[in-house]
Amino acid sequence: MSIIISPSLLSVDFLDLKTELERLNSSDDLWLHLDVMDGHFVPNLTFGEPVLNKVKSVSKHKLDAHFMVTNPEFYVDNFKKVGLHNFTYHWEAVTNHEKLIAKIKASYPSVGISLKPKTPVSVLPLSILSTIDVILMMSVEPGFGGQKFMPEVIDKLIELDKIRHENKLTFQIQVDGGISDENAGYLIQAGANNLVAGSYIFSEPNKDYAKRINKIR
Ligand code: DX5
Ligand code: ZN
Repeated sequence: MSIIISPSLLSVDFLDLKTELERLNSSDDLWLHLDVMDGHFVPNLTFGEPVLNKVKSVSKHKLDAHFMVTNPEFYVDNFKKVGLHNFTYHWEAVTNHEKLIAKIKASYPSVGISLKPKTPVSVLPLSILSTIDVILMMSVEPGFGGQKFMPEVIDKLIELDKIRHENKLTFQIQVDGGISDENAGYLIQAGANNLVAGSYIFSEPNKDYAKRINKIR
């Protein structure tokens, strides 16, 4: 599996959104990571469908939405026309996973499930791991960019990668939170294929984001 880097929109200069997105268009093998927060599942509120429609019109990359929301089912319908590639919801927000996954699959090419740092890998049954496309492991408490990486996630990645390997499953393992060139190598070694990075990429002093993306690679 090739490594995908997913720059997180949360850390861009929103007053200059179009130019920021154009800067990312010079890199390849990226997903554009979109943190949709509802101010309820997490104590922060971000952007919704009208903003993401504009993002879609400028970005050449696949759109990867990470829904930190209490009621992901509502957003499945609400975001249908945006043209998202991946729809990731939080395990902790839902009880009937089979129903929600089927609903997402009907409208989106890729389905992801995210686990908060304290949610163990053992909650995920094989029946679900064999139907989804992405598992997003949070390496910070969801809600804000710029937090410190929690190294405890590494053991969870190893555990999940082992399950994937033993059962010949094909889902991607994505990691999100506090990622930089300093920890990316350990994450890949532990089994990650997709790294989300916000503050590390967008704090590049000359806005040469490709430079930071390549450093992570
Ligand atoms: C946090 C978000 C992340 C965030 C990552 O809840 O899910 O995607 O933007 O930002 P950094 O890379 O700054 O930790
Ligand atoms: Zn995220």
